[in-house]
Parts: sequence; C-alpha cells; structure tokens
Amino acid sequence: MPKWLKDAVFYEIYPQSFKDSNGDGIGDFNGIIEKLDYIKDLGCNAIWMNPCYDSPFRDAGYDVRDYKKTAARYGSNEDLIRLFAEVHKRDMHILLDLVPGHTSEEHEWFQASSKPEPNEYSDRYVWTDDWFHAPEGFNYVAGESLRNGIYILNFFKCQPALNYGFLKPEKSWQKGLDDPACVATKEALKDVMRFWLDAGCDGFRVDMADSLVKKDDEKKSGTAMIWKDIRKMLDESYPEAALVSEWNRPELAIPAGFHMDFNLDWVGNAYNLLMRDVQDGRNNSIFHKDSDRSILDFFGEYLEKYEVIKEQGHYCLITGNHDTIRASYYLDVSELKLAYAFLLTMPGNPFIYYGDEIGMRYRELASKEGGYTRTGSRTPMQWDDSVNCGFSTAAAADLYLPVDGSEDAPTVAGQEKDKDSLLNTVKAVLALRNSEDDLKENANLKLVYARKEDRGFAYRRGNLLLLCNPSGKEVVIEAKDLPAGTEKRFEIGKTECQTGKYVLGAQSFGIYAC
Ligand code: NOJ
Repeated sequence: MPKWLKDAVFYEIYPQSFKDSNGDGIGDFNGIIEKLDYIKDLGCNAIWMNPCYDSPFRDAGYDVRDYKKTAARYGSNEDLIRLFAEVHKRDMHILLDLVPGHTSEEHEWFQASSKPEPNEYSDRYVWTDDWFHAPEGFNYVAGESLRNGIYILNFFKCQPALNYGFLKPEKSWQKGLDDPACVATKEALKDVMRFWLDAGCDGFRVDMADSLVKKDDEKKSGTAMIWKDIRKMLDESYPEAALVSEWNRPELAIPAGFHMDFNLDWVGNAYNLLMRDVQDGRNNSIFHKDSDRSILDFFGEYLEKYEVIKEQGHYCLITGNHDTIRASYYLDVSELKLAYAFLLTMPGNPFIYYGDEIGMRYRELASKEGGYTRTGSRTPMQWDDSVNCGFSTAAAADLYLPVDGSEDAPTVAGQEKDKDSLLNTVKAVLALRNSEDDLKENANLKLVYARKEDRGFAYRRGNLLLLCNPSGKEVVIEAKDLPAGTEKRFEIGKTECQTGKYVLGAQSFGIYAC
C-alpha cells in the first residue's frame, strides 16, 4: 500500500471545466496549476483528473486516440509534467485516468486492426472471423471496415473493446488469456502506465476496471489475473503508485490488486440511498430531513464489504463524480453539510467532486461530448462573481458549457466570506480529519448505535465518537454502552452529551473524544 494513501483526501477534476488559463473557453493544465493552492487549502492533498489524452471527445476523453499524448486543448505533455511537479511541490499527489478496456475507433491500433491484411494489431481488439454472424451477448459494429469481421464494443459505439481474451474461449475467434495477442494488449497497457509513472504521475483511477476479460466468471477471475500481474509490476518498480478501481465490488477489486475501490452511485444501492433516493417524486434519501430511512439501510450493505477488505484496501466514498447527478439536486445546503460531514469522516479515502464543496447545481443541458444526462454535472467551476464566474475570459458562447447564470449561483469567493457556508463546513471537517489519526486509519470503524425506527446514529473511529441526526426533529440516543464524550471536537447544529445519553438537535452532527 503506498504510504501516502494513509491520509489522502482526493479532489476530482474534470479538466474541461475547472479553470481556463488561456481564454479559449475550456479548462487546461495551467488553470489547474493556478488553483492547486485552493485545493490544498480546502484540505485535499490528492487529485484525480479525468482523461486528458488526445481524443475525438465522443465520450469526454474516455475515447482515447493516443495514450501517450495530451489533448492540445489542455496543454502539452510538458505542461502536464509541470502540473505533476507543482502538485508534488505542495506535498500533494495526482492520479491520471487510465482507460484500459477500450480506445477510440480513431486510435492507430484500431485503424491498423481494421485492415484486411494481417498485421501486428489484427488481434488487439475483439473481432469475429466473419462479417455475417453476430457475436452473441455483445454490442458490436458490423459493416464498417474492409476487414471480414465484426468488432465488439466496450461502451459507446466509438469505443471498440481491447482484446485481453476470453476466460474460456468457445468460438474460433475467441482467444485465451495467454494467447500472444492478448498478452501483447496487457503489455501495451503496462507500457502506457510506465510512460506516465516515469513522467511523474502518482497512479491511476481505472475506468471500467472489471471489463477486461470477456465472458469472465462471477468472480472476474480472468480480469483479476491481469490486474494482479499489473500490481506486481507496480510493487516491484513503482511501490508508491496507487490504483483505484471503478468497480464497486471491493471484495473482488482489492484482492485483484487495487489499493482502493469506489462505492459508486447505482440506483437502489446503499450509497444511492444516502443522497439520491428519489422515487415517484418522493425524496427518501437518508440525509433528506423528512425521509424515514434509517442509516441502517446504508450500513448493512457497506459494512459487509468494508469488513472483508478493511485490512487490505480502502473502500472509498465520493460526494459525486462526473457520471452522477450532483447531490445538490436532491439535498439542500443544511442536508449537504451533514451528508458531507458523514462521508468525510468515514474510512477509506474520500473523493470530493469539483464544485460539490460549494453545492454547485445540476442543470438540465443538451448533451456535450457524450455526456447526456451527465452533462449538467460537468459545468464550469464557479470561482467568483466576475465574468463567467471567474472560470474563463472567453465569450460566453465559446465556453465548454454554459456557466450557472442564476443570481444566487454559489461561488468559492462568496462562500469563503461566510463562516457558515458549505465550503467552510467542508474545510472544517477536513481540517479535523487531517489532524486526527483516528480519522485516517482505515480499519477502525464501528457502528455503535443505529435502529430501524430511529434516524439518529452513532459510530466510532478509534477514540472518537461521531453522532449524527439528519432529521428535522431532536433525537435522544440513550444507550448504556455508549461512552461519555470527554471533549467536543466538532459540531454542526447542536449536540449534547448528558449522563447516559446524547441529545442531538434537529439536523446535527457532533464529534466527541471519549
Ligand atoms: C466510466 C466513466 O466514468 C464514464 O464517464 C465513461 O463514459 C465510461 N466509463 C466509458 O469509458
């Protein structure tokens, strides 16, 4: 486990929308450099940046045309290397986004692979061996290349699947994991990783990490074999490089070699119930003031996974990401404060999606770069009340996406001045997290009070007791096995430790040393 993950708090940057330094309407590496001190000051010491490679941008850069070249719109490879150096100068770390399962159809490997003449890349992607018979169980494209075959897709139409093989090949065109062509794909991926690690990045967030081997088993044992091999390379040559998977099955991802796995927002899963549970117009999210859900609806599923992996890896909670509707769409500021206080005091490495710290809003916008309903969560960062909210000096019509033009659009500058703002609450929670060893260590979570019929709950992190009442009514927690708080370390709303009980005011959160 890289040492720096012990206390890493991540900030996710969607580079298109963070800060434009050259006035062309789109964010860039130099803009990120300008804002590193802001990120550090917020309390984050690590960054995950979404794909920044050369791409036709049909899926916001998750359609990579050249893994080793940055997209000109963000800057050159040298600019990115300078960003790495600026990050390190501040004692911070940065993960790039690695897209191992597919490339853009414009990648030169795919161009070569599509040719009828056999060549080095013919089997770099998964092709059938005739143009007519559809590959069962896969999305595919037929009739577009001169080659006599059909290729399968990993996600959108523009993203042909790289060939890492089939767990148990059944058809003539399906190759085994140890086929030289599939081994070559894996080696090419390792080569890309080494390229950026040697250039100074600190590891990778891995896109669709479970998608490599086709017709894999339930346990994804084929895909796991590949990641274990990659982890071996990291352990031997880059022991401080970190890997976080987009998988949402830590019980598989961590043994497969990842240091961290994300708890993702999937409709109806435990994480989704925290902030985004809206059905038939009713908001029943755990952190919604008027919901009737108990935190047990989250902890049941979460703890089962956490307990399995807590000694080996981190299960990471996020405020949101570039694929989810921002939580501010469902929760108001007082609800968000409690939700974030919870997320940021849990084990694992928390991830804050840019703009969530000020409650930036989700808006329904026309799709941009394959974003569809995700587009509204990808709008320009709102820094201040200058032109384009301080994101860019370009004409409004030239911006990557329109900025939030509403009168009361939240901004960093506005919230810095207000001591009760969401931004200052996030800062206060992170300052505490960063100063308390008990809030860093992974394996010291214990749920000490939660009831089906009760909205107040309490959990321990080492010697700290954390109490939360997301409801709009006072809650009294009487439990003889709850320790008495000796010192209040943090509070939102009003919490009180009395003999034998804790009294939690409406919408409150307290942290006590015990
Ligand atoms: C997951 C990424 O987070 C998403 O944005 C992308 O569209 C797909 N993977 C395909 O790469």
